[in-house]
Amino acid sequence: MKSKITQTFQRHFEAEPLMVFAPGRINLIGEHTDYQEGFVFPAAVTQGIWVGIAKNKLTVCRAYSLDFEQEFCFELNSMSPKKGHWATYIMGICTQFHQAGYPLENFDLVLGGDIPVGGGLSSSAALSVSLGLALSELFAFHIPKKNLALYAQKSEQLFAGVNCGIMDPYASAFGKQGQAMLLDCRNLDHRDVPVDLGDYGLLLIHSKVSHSLASSAYNQRREACEESVVILKQAYPEIHTLRDLEVSDLPTIKRLLPETLFPKAKHVVTECARVHQAAEALQLGNLSEVGRLLQASHQSLRDDFEVSCVELDFLAKQTEKTKTVLGARMMGGGFGGCLLTLVKQQESQIFKDQIQAAYEKEFQLTPAFIEVAIGDGARKI
Ligand code: GLA
Repeated sequence: MKSKITQTFQRHFEAEPLMVFAPGRINLIGEHTDYQEGFVFPAAVTQGIWVGIAKNKLTVCRAYSLDFEQEFCFELNSMSPKKGHWATYIMGICTQFHQAGYPLENFDLVLGGDIPVGGGLSSSAALSVSLGLALSELFAFHIPKKNLALYAQKSEQLFAGVNCGIMDPYASAFGKQGQAMLLDCRNLDHRDVPVDLGDYGLLLIHSKVSHSLASSAYNQRREACEESVVILKQAYPEIHTLRDLEVSDLPTIKRLLPETLFPKAKHVVTECARVHQAAEALQLGNLSEVGRLLQASHQSLRDDFEVSCVELDFLAKQTEKTKTVLGARMMGGGFGGCLLTLVKQQESQIFKDQIQAAYEKEFQLTPAFIEVAIGDGARKI
C-alpha cells in the first residue's frame, strides 16, 4: 500500500510525499461504555489507512482517494463539508487544527487503506487519526497522540453526526503490537495487557449488514444513559456518569429508574465490571473465562442495551453450538458489522465453512471472515 500511495502521489501531484499510517481497531470487551467515562479494552489491528502528504504552492488543497479513485479540492478558509463524503473527514480534521490554533498551509494528499468499511473496525477513526498525524508531521506541530485522538473524536461528532466516544481514535493512536489496552475513558489513561491466546485466535465474522438506524440509535442510547444519570443523581449526588456505580447498586438503581431506562444503565454498569474481569482472566491465561465474559457481553448488548440485530444474534447463536469457539460477541456500535470470536485456530477452517453455510441458508448473504492480528498504533513510516 505504501508504494502504491507513493506512486499515485508522484503521478498525480509530481512530488515526494511524507507517509503515515494509522490502524483500525478491535474491542475485546467494553462496548457502549466509553461515552459514560467507563472502561474499554481495545487493541489496534494491522489493517489501517495510509496517507501520503506534501505541501503545495497552490491556493487550494488537493486530496485523492485510492478507494474512490477520485480527487477533491478545497480551500482552507472556506471548507464546505458534505455529510457522507470521504473528504469530509479531511476537512473535519483541518477544522479541528484551525480551532486549536495550528496554522495550516495548502497541501496535497493521497489516502488509501485495507480496512473493510462498515465492518466495525473503525475505518473512520483510522482515517481521522492518520490525517491528524500527517498534518502534525508535515507542519512539525508535534501534537501529542492524546490530542490527535481528541481531534479525531470531535471531528467525527461534528462532521459524521455520531456522538461517539474516545475509544476508536485512542486505540488507533496508542495501539501496541500484541497488546490490548485497558483504557479508563475518564482520565484517558491506559494499561497495556499482553494478548496471549495460545491455541486460540481472534476471528471477526462480518455480517455484511449495516442497518441504517445505526447513528440515530447510537445517539439515542447515549441520551438514555445521560437521562439515567440525571435521575440517579438525586439518590447518588456524587456520581458524574454511570461509570461511578457498582454492580451492587443495581437493586437500588432498579427502583429509581423507569423500566425503559434501567436495562440500559444496567448494561453500562455490568459491562464496566466485565472489562476488569476479562483483563484479569487474560492475564491469568484463563481463556475460557474470557470466552464466558464475551458471551455475557453479547447477551447484555442484545437484551439490555438493544444494539444487536438478528444477523449478529444468529451468528452468535451458531458459535454457542461448537466447542471450537470459547466466546463471541458483537463488536462496536452495533446494528450490523462484525462478531468477534475467540476461536481454536486448528479448527477454524471447519468452523468458517459451517457458519458460512448456515448464514447463507438463513439470510442469503455470504459473511466475510477477517483474521485479526494486533498491531502498532499510528506512526510515520
Ligand atoms: C462506536 C463508537 C465508540 C464506542 C462504540 C461502542 O464504535 O465510535 O466510541 O462508543 O461504538 O462501544
